[in-house]
Amino acid sequence: MCQTGETEGMSGSPDLRNASFRDLYRAWEDHPWSSSAIDLSLDAKQWTEELGERQRESALWNYAMFLKGVETEARTLSAVMDATPFEDERAFLATQIVDEARHRMFLDRWLREVAGQGEDPVSTLSAMEDHLTWGFRQVFEELERVADALRKKPRDRPLLTQAVVLCHVIIEAVLAIPGEHFIHRYLEKRDILPGLAYGLTQTARDEQRHVAFGAKFLDELVHHSKECRSAAIEMFDRVIPWMVGVFIPPNLDPSYTECFDFTLGEIYAFGLRALERSLQDVGINPREIRILARDDRSLPYEERARRLLVLIESGVVGDDTREPDLKPEAYEILFEGMARAMDVDVARSLEGPLEWTFTDAEPWHLLVVGDHVEARPGTPGDAALRLESASGDWAKIAVGRFDPRWALLRRRLRVHGSLASKAKVSKLFD
Ligand SMILES: [Fe+2]
Repeated sequence: MCQTGETEGMSGSPDLRNASFRDLYRAWEDHPWSSSAIDLSLDAKQWTEELGERQRESALWNYAMFLKGVETEARTLSAVMDATPFEDERAFLATQIVDEARHRMFLDRWLREVAGQGEDPVSTLSAMEDHLTWGFRQVFEELERVADALRKKPRDRPLLTQAVVLCHVIIEAVLAIPGEHFIHRYLEKRDILPGLAYGLTQTARDEQRHVAFGAKFLDELVHHSKECRSAAIEMFDRVIPWMVGVFIPPNLDPSYTECFDFTLGEIYAFGLRALERSLQDVGINPREIRILARDDRSLPYEERARRLLVLIESGVVGDDTREPDLKPEAYEILFEGMARAMDVDVARSLEGPLEWTFTDAEPWHLLVVGDHVEARPGTPGDAALRLESASGDWAKIAVGRFDPRWALLRRRLRVHGSLASKAKVSKLFD
């Protein structure tokens, strides 16, 4: 059973780290602001005079996701509030619903009055549809699905936990802050679009409270129930592959971020850091999350983000409508990930290397060296087990896009070796 309390270990700004739920509520009362009162006249003038065409396209792409995101959150958070059994938490969630509605009002005004999108709130929102990325749609459809399920089962605590993971960790801490504010830094440096800059500053302060609340609430949920903890991990496993796709710009064009002096690598490094910090705050080791367990966590966040971008550019992650077209480095990154995910004891019991041969690329193999598994290019010559597929199918299997059992049934994956070795295939990977 989850209890209210004053658990330590929160995310958010330092002054919110030790705040109680009631403190967070009071912080909301102390910082009112009006989205309707912001003067957008200078923004409208500077939108055409100071920004280039790519900057306008990038701002629309980015703030389309912001508007749709806060509109969805404002609707779905009521299910989270109704399912929350504690008074202080419920009071805070009521303030967050107001915040999300205010963020929506602000962005709706800005997109219409400054960027000329739509004629009323409905048409402005629908004008944003084409800008939404594959990853964004997956994450927010999941939020709608979880909120609907929670409305039907408001006493289901694991479901409430999953809603908090989605709303407060994935959407607020990992996606919203870098997503909404990478342009903000540029606006402040150039001293332009003062209405947008002011609204984003107020939004950022609101979000710090939402993030701090989410970390504290999730911490309590997962610490008092094994079922809630498992449900949280399951949601992270499900949603992280979609989350990776949220900020992929049209045609993978880096100028969408670089026109505002920001790189995609910076956004992904920020997101990775925020995700792992959030996990650690609630006592979940990042190694317990499937996709993070395969990552080389000894590397700096910037290098990990660069390697992730190699997989995105190779069509392996971030957009499941794309077929993989692997860059040479993608093989190394994916095989190293497979090596980390392999059960060393099962691999050792094969008494020989595992080889992967491709119908359209050079082979690789995995072998036990001391107490770990290593990935190497080429054929080992003495493989105990040999798997055979097209490289694209292998890449999709490696990141969980293609179920290997289904690949076997459809003969897109073939296994060669002794009966005893073949029997161990399903036990090799997590
Ligand atoms: Fe928020």
